[in-house]
Amino acid sequence: MNDKLRLGVNIDHVATIRNARGGIHPDPIHAAKLAEKAGADGITAHLREDRRHISDSDVGRLMEAIDTPLNLEIAATAEMLQIALRHKPNAACIVPEKREERTTEGGLDVAGGATSLQPVISQLKDAGIRVSLFIEPDQRQLDAAAELGADIVELHTGRYCDVIGAARDEELKRIAEAAIYTHQLGMECHAGHGLTFDTVMPVAAIPEVVELNIGHFLIGEAIFSGLESSIQRMRALMDKARADAPGAKPA
Ligand code: PXP
Repeated sequence: MNDKLRLGVNIDHVATIRNARGGIHPDPIHAAKLAEKAGADGITAHLREDRRHISDSDVGRLMEAIDTPLNLEIAATAEMLQIALRHKPNAACIVPEKREERTTEGGLDVAGGATSLQPVISQLKDAGIRVSLFIEPDQRQLDAAAELGADIVELHTGRYCDVIGAARDEELKRIAEAAIYTHQLGMECHAGHGLTFDTVMPVAAIPEVVELNIGHFLIGEAIFSGLESSIQRMRALMDKARADAPGAKPA
């Protein structure tokens, strides 16, 4: 459990900048290749219904270009299911999606939406795609995810990043407890959303968490220090947190 923590780099916002002007620059696939060189263990991309950043052709180009696993974030719609089945990424992370939101707000209501999620999850799994569900650190949602046969849950760290002081400590405790419970239920535990250099270490120190998915901060920081440097620094902080965590194996 204390083995090296994987870093999935989300390259959506390279595409956001590209799309601000149209055209082909900057290319998110170029960013994905650089991310791999800098130490990313996987690439994450969210194909949204409104295609505000990643496009359909980006998904195909990523599948061809990258050497690490692609984690494709999608809403549980018939259209997105067909796209995932066509490209067969390593994993599909099902997220809630609202057209008017700026980013993914809150986790998926797995407990309340089990009937509509079940066929999507089954078809993805039948195609050999690992299924991840993006949820709040909440026992009821975790039970429902396990019930539906999810391989992975990704715990939403947005609230943890948004609050400060005692509220952040409380939220971290919720995430740590949810990570232990995820592991007990036999699912792989990932975490992400809103993580920065300042917030990543306590989450990285949770031994049951095996992957963090980080995007917006890394792409923003790349403006100042370059993409490889921002990823390398994040990677170093994650590794340090892991090495210093109680019960860590000696290197
Ligand atoms: N994980 C999931 C499921 C997400 O939807 C996102 C945002 O697209 C992230 C991780 C990464 O969040 P951020 O861009 O804030 O690092």
